[in-house]
Amino acid sequence: MTVTDEIKARLNLEDIVAETVKLRRSGRSMTGFCPFHPNTHTPAFVVFPDTGTWRCFGQCNEGGDIFKYIMKREGMDFSQALKYLAERAGVQLAPPTPEMERTRHISDRLENALELAVQFFHSQLLESPAGRSALDYLHKRDLKDATLEQFGFGYAPDSWDSLQKHLIARGIDPQAQIECGLLTEREGGGYYDRFRNRIMIPIRTMEGKMAGFGARILNPQDQPKFLNSPQTILFDKGRLLFGLDRARKAIRLQDQAVIVEGYLDVVALHQAGFANAVSPMGTALTEDQMRLLKKFTRRIVLALDADAAGEKATLRGLEVAREAMDHGEEIGFDVRGLLRHEKRLQADLRVTTLPEGMDPDEVVNRDPAEWQGIVDRATPLVIHVMESLARSKDVTDPRVKNEIAAAVLPLIEDVPGTVERDAYRQRLARLLRVGEEALLSMHPARQASLPSGRRVTNQPNPQSPRQVLRAGTTDPTPEMERHVLAWLISNPPLLYRVDRNLRQTDLPRLSGQDFGQSDLQQAFFVLNTALEQDELDPQEYIAANLDASLLTDLTKFFDFNNQDKINEDDLVVDVFRTVIRLRNKRCKDALLQLRYLQEDEHPEGSTVPFQNQVLENLQMIKKLESALRLDSQKRKL
Ligand code: UTP
Ligand code: MN
Repeated sequence: MTVTDEIKARLNLEDIVAETVKLRRSGRSMTGFCPFHPNTHTPAFVVFPDTGTWRCFGQCNEGGDIFKYIMKREGMDFSQALKYLAERAGVQLAPPTPEMERTRHISDRLENALELAVQFFHSQLLESPAGRSALDYLHKRDLKDATLEQFGFGYAPDSWDSLQKHLIARGIDPQAQIECGLLTEREGGGYYDRFRNRIMIPIRTMEGKMAGFGARILNPQDQPKFLNSPQTILFDKGRLLFGLDRARKAIRLQDQAVIVEGYLDVVALHQAGFANAVSPMGTALTEDQMRLLKKFTRRIVLALDADAAGEKATLRGLEVAREAMDHGEEIGFDVRGLLRHEKRLQADLRVTTLPEGMDPDEVVNRDPAEWQGIVDRATPLVIHVMESLARSKDVTDPRVKNEIAAAVLPLIEDVPGTVERDAYRQRLARLLRVGEEALLSMHPARQASLPSGRRVTNQPNPQSPRQVLRAGTTDPTPEMERHVLAWLISNPPLLYRVDRNLRQTDLPRLSGQDFGQSDLQQAFFVLNTALEQDELDPQEYIAANLDASLLTDLTKFFDFNNQDKINEDDLVVDVFRTVIRLRNKRCKDALLQLRYLQEDEHPEGSTVPFQNQVLENLQMIKKLESALRLDSQKRKL
């Protein structure tokens, strides 16, 4: 039994869910209002105690096991959820591998050095005569002592070696100080304190671990205005967001994050009670940063300064932000009225502009209500882009019209919801003063989906779903998932071939979603990263990064020496077909569950909720079955 199995055996998902969600038993499942999206009408959230799984059939259309649930509820990643639940279940986690121990040990040492530096700078700020002017400056900027304390502000003295000496006296050798970016090496040999006569702002990971510093000048003549830690093992500025450690909770509670440009803006906003603000560190937003935020919310407001010169750069930045967010499937109708799946942005990106010449800290210090208003008035990305592009341009010029339409129409196609898309198209048509017909012809690559006036009345029709569910003795799904992963892990490049087969049959590639168990999902991510990185051989990477007990569990069926005897082509077919069966089973299970839900919630059959999900599953089943058929025909030839 793996640790995750043991945890699942000891904890009841329904108990964990019931901590925050009121559940009502209905038949073999339990239903309630989904904690992850606003829903008050139809309880769309279902827990299946028998299998220890849950699913939201509403807006989220997502589900999983107890780990996935905790990851979502607590905004944790898998290993955090594992630790959290292991503790609650009283399960001992397997000791980390020597490789993990070694990197852990190195980063612990560097983190410790940085924490000592935070304390040193902080006491310099509060206690040294030179720190006095820094403190005065911060007070002048309306920062309160309690805020400076919370964020751990400090002052780096105007000296080449005072931090260095302080740390050496505490057992941190110069080499470690160089590695965590506190000392800079001289070209001719030797080293000196990197930060001198600056206000020191600690930058932490979202878990609150020290990563580096942002350091602001006091003397207006000094350069640069902000000096950040250099890239180190702990500090990678494209992968950190300043303030996220203190903001994550508020972001999840408010289901919204606000991104501002400066460190001091974040601090001032938090001080004023707007604790959902974070900032990048002087660079454009990166995909990694969006990925961090995505764990906590999909509603993101970018607060940008009004500076028109920055407009171009801003639009590029927005593009990055948009691309970094997930695109999910949505059902649409093509011109013949057939169903089709379309990729749509799974996030709500908004943009707000600040009053000319003001930064967020100035706004919020002047009037907190004004800041709230600015956030509330944030405009959806599409509108912001269309208005920015049209500003100061002659929209009566046909060339300009074409240009703007070409830039904005794809964004509109990316918006979920037919009604919203129609509204945006109308708005763009008005802005460019053309008819909607003309607008669509400006960008022939994309065609508007037909208005979805039609209803599809297909119903899933398995006979007596409850019986079918009961009839199944043991669920083969976990074994099948294991089977797929075990083969892939024993031979990582197999994944490419399986994916190619899937794509050839017009099916999405293998993804974490194909694995219902969070530990296997995690293993799949490790497998993916193993293939992406090039420092280690994929198998070595997996061995170093995958939980040891899971690895043993997955590989115990294998006689690796025997593997050569299995024809790789046969292997690809085997894995490919197992994946299809898994997906097929998942869709069918979902249909049964939906049927359940409909019967329990609407016994009279008056309204049929979750129609989209029903259709989606039916479509997918059709596709999967025809893929299997095609594949066997091909093989017979
Ligand atoms: P700003 O120049 O707008 O500064 O840079 P600011 O945050 O408003 O600071 P104050 O109000 O003058 O004190 C915005 C952000 O860009 C990064 C920093 O993260 C800063 O907070 N930056 C700026 C740098 O990294 N280096 C620089 O030299 C300047
Ligand atoms: Mn500022």
